[in-house]
Amino acid sequence: MPTNNKPFADALTAGIIRIKANTSLSVRQIEDRLGLATGKTGRTAIEYWRKGYPPHRQILEKLLMEMMILSNGDLDEPWLRNILKTANYAEPDLFCGRFFSPQTISSRENLDTLTHRSRKFVGRKEDLQTIQEILHTPGSPSVITIVGLGGIGKTALAFEIYSRERLNKKFVQSIWINETGGVLTFDEVLIQLGRGLGHPSIAKMSLIDRKFFIQSRAEATPILVVLDNLETAGQDQQDIVERLIPLLGQGKIIATSRKRFSGDLFQILLPGLTEQESSEYMKEVARNQNILRLFSATQEQLKQIHVSTGGSPEAIKLIVGQLASSDLEIALKYLREARPLGLNRDEDEYVNFYRRIYEWSWTFLSESSKSLLIACAHFAPEVGGVFDALQKVSAIPAEVLPGYIHELWQHSLLEVSSALTPTRYALHTLTRNFVLSDILDMLAHNQTNIEHHIVVNT
Ligand SMILES: Nc1ncnc2c1ncn2[C@@H]1O[C@H](COP(=O)(O)OP(=O)(O)OP(=O)(O)O)[C@@H](O)[C@H]1O
Ligand SMILES: [Mg+2]
Repeated sequence: MPTNNKPFADALTAGIIRIKANTSLSVRQIEDRLGLATGKTGRTAIEYWRKGYPPHRQILEKLLMEMMILSNGDLDEPWLRNILKTANYAEPDLFCGRFFSPQTISSRENLDTLTHRSRKFVGRKEDLQTIQEILHTPGSPSVITIVGLGGIGKTALAFEIYSRERLNKKFVQSIWINETGGVLTFDEVLIQLGRGLGHPSIAKMSLIDRKFFIQSRAEATPILVVLDNLETAGQDQQDIVERLIPLLGQGKIIATSRKRFSGDLFQILLPGLTEQESSEYMKEVARNQNILRLFSATQEQLKQIHVSTGGSPEAIKLIVGQLASSDLEIALKYLREARPLGLNRDEDEYVNFYRRIYEWSWTFLSESSKSLLIACAHFAPEVGGVFDALQKVSAIPAEVLPGYIHELWQHSLLEVSSALTPTRYALHTLTRNFVLSDILDMLAHNQTNIEHHIVVNT
């Protein structure tokens, strides 16, 4: 009988508890998932490992891989290195390199901003200037809110500022917060802030201690906090921001939301890109995704895309993506039949506009790409998953998966952040919503397929 390895048992249990804290799964469900991933039926194996008997190499790798996937980015490099060490794993660097590299994901804070790294930022010069002035002028507002329609570019603008601030280092700490780890509440904001400041143990503190900790850190060093997509928060967005202000002292908050804020917070109501910016963005997307058709478009055709989309980058990106499979005139004809997207569109009209674009993009996809798109909706929007996770969830063989990833990416349905290792694949919130509402609904009710629906409606 081998001797019991307590450090391994502790590390494994700590990992399971962290997964539990970050998902809606119970310990039992987590153990079942781990059993499934390692090909063990029943609970005997996992219970044995948890007593301090590490499995052999191959099973250990499967176990840890599944734990990393389940934790959605919360299990960090120190945890992984520690458990590998306790299990006497021979090549920890190699295994860690599958998840982390020197410039890559070492905390959830980095994960949250992944999908905005891959393309060049276009335009918005005045907004950038206004925001930077406010950030750097003493006595100016401590909160800047960026409000507008879904897909209009709020997160991209906030991320551009955040990246610049990290470079110029005027703020000692810049921290990005969104709902990745669960529904965002004031308390969750404090926990993510604490983690961003290098104190994951903040999760164990009382609310008063958390506040005190953040306040004392903010007094010592100016902090820039970005609260992204606050419309999805589990508490009133205004309340979250207003409770955070007094804790941050000289620090600043940038908050993005589809919903307007009230009171006298500084608000940027973000419009679509200008005509010139739209053309620039179309070319950037086309260059990036190698869509040559766009480059033979006339000025008039580019203008039509701009007018129909109201300069919304997400809509522009999807339409340029359609040109991977469709002639420009046909795409434009289809687009003209939808009412142009504008700032004052009500929610239904705006959702219908996107639905129309997505439905048409969907018709270009192969069956496997359709399954892959549905599988990608399992991951948090804009954060997504790594190749192995995609492979596992979609059950598409690894040899052919890159082809389908490419197909979705070229049609602008999947974001690929290859600037980081390992590469991550994510859906934009709007795309994920389309999959979760329309596509899954369609499959669940076994309705007439979407292609038929479109033929009837055009
Ligand atoms: N100025 C820009 N330059 C380059 N890309 C942009 C720009 N603005 C937006 N994008 C891209 O367009 C897409 C939609 O933008 P983004 O996610 O920022 O919209 P959003 O307003 O935050 O949407 P949501 O309300 O759904 O969160 C993203 O892929 C983003 O990278
Ligand atoms: Mg956003």
